[in-house]
Amino acid sequence: MSFDRSIKIAPSILSADFASFGAEIRAIEAQGADWVHVDVMDGHFVPNLTFGPPAVKAFRPHVKTVMDVHLMIAPVDPYIEAYAEAGADLITAHVEAGPHIHRTLQAIKAQGVKAGVALNPGTPAEAVADVLDLCDMVLVMTVNPGFGGQKFIHSGIEKTRKVRAMIGDRPIHIQIDGGVTPETAPLVAEAGADVLVAGSAVFKGGSVDRADIYGDNIRAIRAAAEAARSN
Ligand code: DX5
Ligand code: ZN
Repeated sequence: MSFDRSIKIAPSILSADFASFGAEIRAIEAQGADWVHVDVMDGHFVPNLTFGPPAVKAFRPHVKTVMDVHLMIAPVDPYIEAYAEAGADLITAHVEAGPHIHRTLQAIKAQGVKAGVALNPGTPAEAVADVLDLCDMVLVMTVNPGFGGQKFIHSGIEKTRKVRAMIGDRPIHIQIDGGVTPETAPLVAEAGADVLVAGSAVFKGGSVDRADIYGDNIRAIRAAAEAARSN
C-alpha cells in the first residue's frame, strides 16, 4: 500500500449480493475498484449488524487490492486483533466509539496494519487533531453510519477542507463514506478527499453477470471526482 493522493474508488460490499461475496469482490476489482470497503456493524454503536471476523477472513482471498475494514463497533479494542488476523490491510475506528481513540489507534498499528480514524457527521474535524500522527487515514462520514443508500450530508465538505488543512504534507488519506455519487464526489474531491467509498452508486443496476454496469458506475464517480480536481 504505497501512498498517493490520486482518486481511489472503494466500493462498499454492504450493497453487494450477500449470497455471493467472493464473486462480487472479484467483479468490482475486475471493473476498476481500487480498494474493497468492508462495513462492520455491531447492532450497538450503529443499529445494524454485519460481518464478524470469520466473514472478513473469508473475503480475504478474493481481495487482490486493499481490504479496508470500517469498524462501526463499540467497544472496539477487544476486536482489533481478530480483524487484523482476518486479513485487514487497514482498520478504521470511530473517534466516538470510546474514550481512548489514541490507545485504539496504537493498538491497530501494533498489529502491523494501517490505521484510520472516522468522524461521524456530528463530530468536528478538531476531534482528530491530536491523533493524526498515529493515522494513515481520516474517514469523514457524510451519512450517519448504519445503512447504505442514505442521503449525502453536505457539512462533510467543509469538514474535509479542514481535515485536509490539518494534515498538511503528512501522508494521510482522506476517505469519504456515505451518499457518494457522480454528483457529490466532485464536492469532496475538490475539498481534498482522495478515497471515495460508494455502495449503492457502484452496485446500482448491476450484478455479477452484468459487472460491466459496476464498471460504468465506478468510472462515472472517478471521472466526476477527477474533473473537480483539475479545475
Ligand atoms: C454506512 C457505511 C457505508 C455505506 C455507504 O454506515 O459505512 O460504507 O455502505 O453506502 P452508500 O454509498 O450507499 O451511502
Ligand atoms: Zn463504511
